Parts: sequence; structure tokens; C-alpha cells
Amino acid sequence: MSNIQSLRGMKDIIDDDSKLFTYFVENASKIAKNYGFSFISTPMLEETALFKRSVGESSDIVNKEMYQFIDKGENDVCLRPEGTAGVVRCFIQNKFDKTGATKRWFYTGSMFRYERPQKGRLRQFHQFGAESFGQSSVYEDANIIIMIKDIFDFFGIKYKLLLNSLGCLECMPTYKQNLVSKLVNIQEDLCGDCKRRIETNPIRVLDCKIESCKELLTDMPKITHNLCQECNKDFDILKDILTKNNISFEIDSNLVRGLDYYNKTAFEFVSSEIGSQSAMAGGGRYDKLVEFLGGKSTPAVGFAIGIERILELIKYQPQDENIYYFGSMTPDGIERIFAKAVEFRKSNKAFVEYSSKSFIKHLNIAEKQGANIVALIGEDELKNDTIFIKDLRTKEEKTIPLNNFKGL
Ligand code: HAM
Repeated sequence: MSNIQSLRGMKDIIDDDSKLFTYFVENASKIAKNYGFSFISTPMLEETALFKRSVGESSDIVNKEMYQFIDKGENDVCLRPEGTAGVVRCFIQNKFDKTGATKRWFYTGSMFRYERPQKGRLRQFHQFGAESFGQSSVYEDANIIIMIKDIFDFFGIKYKLLLNSLGCLECMPTYKQNLVSKLVNIQEDLCGDCKRRIETNPIRVLDCKIESCKELLTDMPKITHNLCQECNKDFDILKDILTKNNISFEIDSNLVRGLDYYNKTAFEFVSSEIGSQSAMAGGGRYDKLVEFLGGKSTPAVGFAIGIERILELIKYQPQDENIYYFGSMTPDGIERIFAKAVEFRKSNKAFVEYSSKSFIKHLNIAEKQGANIVALIGEDELKNDTIFIKDLRTKEEKTIPLNNFKGL
């Protein structure tokens, strides 16, 4: 019988990847906190209706990629394909929409999409995201974009920012009508997905990745040329804030995003270093979603970074911290060295070996575990109440009274 393997498109995160993963989440969280966001965790399993209503029935995510099943209580449930819908549900369920207060949350966790796996595209992947509720000012959009830039800068990740405005309830429907009137003339030559989208959500046709469709779409009216006065003004302000904060961007009027809830600002951070799945982060404004899901109308804006896509781009800056390794060279010293390790762990990172080993073996294990200070007890140390210490970085060695050893 062959061994059980992980499912296709689902990966273990171990060794160097897990080091980078935690390094990323810890530091991105710190940056999000600097911007006034606090941590939120919502369930991975939600009612299917939540995603159908928010991500949208016309999206590929809902149409083709949901991990959807009926649970033992006959509930139609779904593993979350993204984080925004659950956060919005939580916002409404806890009546934050009624208070009108600003809420800023960040989250990290697994998302599930039944896509065809390839480099940078998994069926279970992790996002680091943030959602801000209650601010209609375009400064909040800028705030979010600058925060993502700060995150990428911290990790030394190069990016290109693509920016668009999708308009609002005033101008988007007129634009859609205008677009449909042009699309129907070429629909025979469009792919099956595009034909379907003319009916369900015509702006999605604009970001079709199929070359023959792209060619046919070059003459379509541009979304950014059809914005109402207010959307135009906000878009200009956003561009101005970004420019004044030294953030370069490229306007991509075909950037409509694969989820249906956006209005006004939509953006993506892409990389040329990670292959065809080049989007590292995406987000935008979704002012109608809270109301659409039954809450009181509340403006909102957010983003999510795909953690797996950026792991290989992270420049790790190891902190020079002391990591201790405790071991005994005699069976009688184990109890004493174990107690010392427990004491150290109150404020230090420390490993402890449970069996008696030779000096050389201890040094080898310590190195493999990534420790840089080795603290050992042998026959002599046991007799004299001392401890032998070696700093693996400087090679310095000393033996000191056990009680005096509080760390280096
Ligand atoms: P999204 O663009 O669908 O947006 O996903 C955000 C990021 O997740 C992508 O840019 C990509 O890096 C990563 N990602 C998506 N699918 C996969 C996959 N199959 N494998 C690996 N990584 C993937 C959202 O999910 C929105 N909820 C973002 C948002 C938050 N908008 C407003 N608030």
C-alpha cells in the first residue's frame, strides 16, 4: 500500500519556507498595526450563500472553484476562497455597521480555490489581508496602498502597481451598457467565458487572458474615460497622493479584478520575477458590499497579499538573537540541564537534548538546530555546580557557576 500524500495543489510549509512564512507574517502584522489595524480571525468554513452573494455568481471563484459541500447537518457550506466576505459578515453580525465607527482589521490564513495547480497557483494558499470599514475618503485607499508598499519595501520585494477606477453606482451601469452595445458586435468571436460574461458581468470581459479576445478588445471604450465627476475627482486625488508619496503606478483600465464586489479604486501589485501568476496582491474599494449582505451602508476598502507567491522574493534579515542549546554529557546531569533550559525559556529561545551525548555530538546537534550558544554539563560540572558554555559564533569557551549563568 502506498503512503498517503497531501492533496494536489496543497502544500506543507516546512523548514526554510516556514521560517520565511513566520518572518513575513510577524513583520507584516507589525506594519499593519502601525497603520491602526488590529488582528481578526474568522472561520474558514462559512455558508455558501455568503460567497455567492459577495464574491459574485459571475466570478470564476464561485462558478468553478469553490470547495462546497453539504455538512452532516444538511447545511450548504464552503471553505472560504478569500477573506473579505467572512470579515464583512463578522462586521455586520457584530453590529459594527450600526455604530458608524471606523474598524480596521488585518488577517492571515488559508484560502481554498479549486483551480488547476501550477507555479504560484495552489488549491490551498495563504493570504495576509486587511479590511477597513467606515471611511469613504480616498485617503483611506491611499493609506492601504502605502501600507502594502511599506510591507513590500520591508522585505525587499520589487513590484509594479497597477491602478484603475471602476466607477460607482452612478457611472458604472452607464459604462456597462455602453460596453455591452460594443461587445455584442464581436461576441461571436469571443471565448465561451467572455460570451457568458456579456450577460453576467460585462466588465469582466476586459481582463480576459486569451490572446484572440485581447486583440478584439483593444477598441472597447475605456472605463477610466467614462467616470462621473466625483469618481474622476477621487481618482485624480488618489493618483496625486500616491505621486506625492513616491509611489509609481501604471493605469490599467482593463484591471477589473476577479471578484464582483469592487467599485471605484481597484489595484494589483504584480511582480516580473514569479512567473505567469504575477499578482502578489490585489484589492480595492467595495462600498456596497456591507449593504448588499444586509448591513447598514458602510464604505470599505481592503487588500490581500498571496503569501506563497512572495516567499521566494523575501530577503531574510536574520536577527542576531541568542539561541541556546542545553545538553548533558552524563546521564546524571539531564535533570539539572532540563531545569536550566526551562528557566531560560522564560525570556530566551532554548533547545534541550534529553539524552546524554559526547561533546562533539552535542555541538553537531546544536548547529543543526540553529543554536548559537551551547551550554553543557559533564561529570566535572556536575560535581562543581558549574556549566560549560561555548559561543559558536565567536568560538569563545568558558566554565562558570551554574547559578550565575543567566544568559550571554
Ligand atoms: P484576489 O486577487 O483574489 O483578492 O487574491 C489576492 C491574492 O491572493 C492574489 O493577488 C494572489 O497573490 C493570491 N492568490 C489568489 N489565488 C491564489 C492561488 N490559487 N494560489 C496562490 N495564491 C493565490 C482577494 O482575495 C480579495 N479578497 C482581496 C481584497 C481584500 N479585496 C478587498 N479586500
